[in-house]
Amino acid sequence: MNTSPETLVEYGRAIDGHQMVEPPDVAVLELEPNHPGEHDADYVARRRLLFDLTRRHRLERLGPPLIEYTAEETRVWREVAPKLHELHDKFACALYLRAKDELAITETEIPQLKTVSDRLARETQMRLVPAEGALPYRTFYQYIADRGFPVTQFIRHGSHPEFTPEPDMIHDCLGHVPPLMNRDYAELLTLIGKAAAATPHGDQVLALKRFSWFSIEFGLIEEAGEVKVFGAGILSSTGEIPHSLFSTSATRRPFVTDTVIATDYDPSQMQKDFFVAPSLPFLRRELEALVRRFGIPVL
Ligand SMILES: [Fe+2]
Repeated sequence: MNTSPETLVEYGRAIDGHQMVEPPDVAVLELEPNHPGEHDADYVARRRLLFDLTRRHRLERLGPPLIEYTAEETRVWREVAPKLHELHDKFACALYLRAKDELAITETEIPQLKTVSDRLARETQMRLVPAEGALPYRTFYQYIADRGFPVTQFIRHGSHPEFTPEPDMIHDCLGHVPPLMNRDYAELLTLIGKAAAATPHGDQVLALKRFSWFSIEFGLIEEAGEVKVFGAGILSSTGEIPHSLFSTSATRRPFVTDTVIATDYDPSQMQKDFFVAPSLPFLRRELEALVRRFGIPVL
């Protein structure tokens, strides 16, 4: 394999390191191959409408639009949210549980991001940025550096309420959004954002991406001698919560930054590698040490 500094490996394939720094912009809706909704014309039309609306609101910095959710979208939310809630009560970390409670996200109504964003702004000066879909990592973290968290406003297809091939509102609102109520969490996140937005080096962006993947997205955390779920990707999946904690086909290792940033992953599958952080302050210290070691002038 070509090992020039600009060639990096991600998701098992060689990638151009330059793309990590200047990611492509996708201006039209593209559903993944074999997406559960790809043959449902009404679903695709709805996704296109929400794609265009939220993209315009993002690019014109208008904040989240108010959305009138359909009966089918609400049905999907009402099917998944209570199942997740039950699992959260048992397995989520305390930071998440407290924040979800304070934000009063209910199991019956899909939240309006505008309301949630206003509340977050008062608590931690974070706000929600409407996003048409998954943004490239660097673009995503450029918003976060500026205390805006990009959040989707569409819902997964109703034929598979427990599965989504892309981040949707259930992933975002029941995974990512609640912890934004915590100041230390918000500071950790914005520091990752500032570092990822400032570095000119693709390999450093990739390392920061893996640091966030194995903490913010798929991290576990120790709490009073127990391992609890911390990452949004786990918290928003009824399958990943028990899998991350108990599956014998997955590993759970202590969070060692050098190991984490050298570990590739496959976002399209159930995860096989999990790292357990001893605490949130530990993650903050590790991140600061990494940013210093990389020479990124954001501290
Ligand atoms: Fe996510």
